[in-house]
Amino acid sequence: PIQVKKICCIGAGYVGGPTCAVIALKCPHIQVTIVDLNQQRIDAWNSDELPIYEPGLDEVVKAARGKNLFFSTDVDKGIEEADLIFVSVNTPTKKSGIGAGFAADLKFLQLATRRIAEVAKSSKIVVEKSTVPCRTADAMRTILEANSKPGCSFDILSNPEFLAEGTAIEDLFAPDRVLIGSLQTQQGKDACEALTQVYANWVPRERILTVGLWSSELSKLAANAMLAQRISSVNALSAICEATGANIDEVAYAVGKDTRMGSKFLKASVGFGGSCFQKDILNLVYLSESLHLPEVAKYWRAVVEMNEYQKSRFANKVVDTLFNTITGKKIAILGWAFKKDTGDTRESPAITLANHFLNEKARINIYDPQVSKDQIWLDLTDYGDIPAEPIKPHVTISQSVEEACHNAEAIVVCTEWDEFKKLDWQKIYDNCPRPAFVFDGRLILDRKALTDIGFKVTTIGTGDRL
Ligand code: NAI
Repeated sequence: PIQVKKICCIGAGYVGGPTCAVIALKCPHIQVTIVDLNQQRIDAWNSDELPIYEPGLDEVVKAARGKNLFFSTDVDKGIEEADLIFVSVNTPTKKSGIGAGFAADLKFLQLATRRIAEVAKSSKIVVEKSTVPCRTADAMRTILEANSKPGCSFDILSNPEFLAEGTAIEDLFAPDRVLIGSLQTQQGKDACEALTQVYANWVPRERILTVGLWSSELSKLAANAMLAQRISSVNALSAICEATGANIDEVAYAVGKDTRMGSKFLKASVGFGGSCFQKDILNLVYLSESLHLPEVAKYWRAVVEMNEYQKSRFANKVVDTLFNTITGKKIAILGWAFKKDTGDTRESPAITLANHFLNEKARINIYDPQVSKDQIWLDLTDYGDIPAEPIKPHVTISQSVEEACHNAEAIVVCTEWDEFKKLDWQKIYDNCPRPAFVFDGRLILDRKALTDIGFKVTTIGTGDRL
């Protein structure tokens, strides 16, 4: 079997960085080089301030960096030296052209693939790590074969990543499963075994699943669609709870006790965010439509629509509760990241809520323990597409919860950061005008304790009817 000695990972993002840092840590005999075109990102990976926040990541990087883990912008050298190349570039939803708003934009993936074909002087195993539409490996193979030099052959594997941001290191250390897809030819199976041996350095063999290429690609989209579907289902039920007097936490607990169902991912919230769920479901919708399966497309699209509904429903509730107007009122937004333990804000529901409040001419005070001021401004201006000047007087970015909540007429919890569970609510209350409203978009606050202090509390999935 082929022995992998040098690995290159193209794309030093939320997936490429942690994944390959863990491979380096667990496989000291393999040299791992992570390359990216973004100089700033690579500089950060080489510094004490890593470009992404992820519990445990600092320790992993510190332990391996400079030994068998390297970060570089020299993409060509990384490709040339490696026997196995992970392609872990971004695959966002297309913004224009055919499939705009649904299909995955594969330009970064194709550029990286072309680069491999142009630069490689020896045979390589090319591993699709990015989440892609089903049958993308076919396109990659055509690009590689059409551009390769004599004596250079390429094997393509699909190895989707199932880590969740916020628990990436934990997930990588002890994955539920590692999935590797290959062509079912002898050569394909040999390549698959080579990658299996890399993971087998720390993952029990029975957790390494080897399947066909197309099953592997589709499994990643399926997993994200089904995870997001659970959230949309529970959120749909939360609206019924609010109207009837049922309590969503009680309902979710009762439902999740069924072992066929399981208890995870049944937490109601202001809606899911993150760079993957929406994008991958839309991708599945597009795939279904391309395959002339409109009913299937409609089914999955509803998961995204329910999520949009949940966000706007919550935003409207804030306005309704504040006597139908928030114009000129100060609203504290606690949490900007799309979930706790990450600084990632891509598709964060907090952005949707903030835009809604700004549209209503409210003043917003934002606090998040891990998101920088610059990032919040990029999100508020849609990366420069929306002018900042008109909204500047209405936005304050605070350094602490106390500062954000000072004089706020409403406090809106958007991210479930642990520190929000342990706040001195009496002190916050003392600094708020009356009536003081709290909106719990993550179901993390002690409703009774806050009500006893004097707050008027609105929680998703619990109505006022008793
Ligand atoms: P990211 O945007 O954080 O990182 C991608 C990196 O690739 C960027 O730093 C970019 O500069 C670099 N890049 C793009 N084209 C390049 C090229 N031609 N040569 C060198 N570098 C290039 O994206 P993220 O979040 O790491 O996602 C990567 C892929 O993994 C996506 O397909 C995503 O769907 C998938 N994924 C993401 C997960 C997540 O939690 N973020 C989880 C599982 C899969």
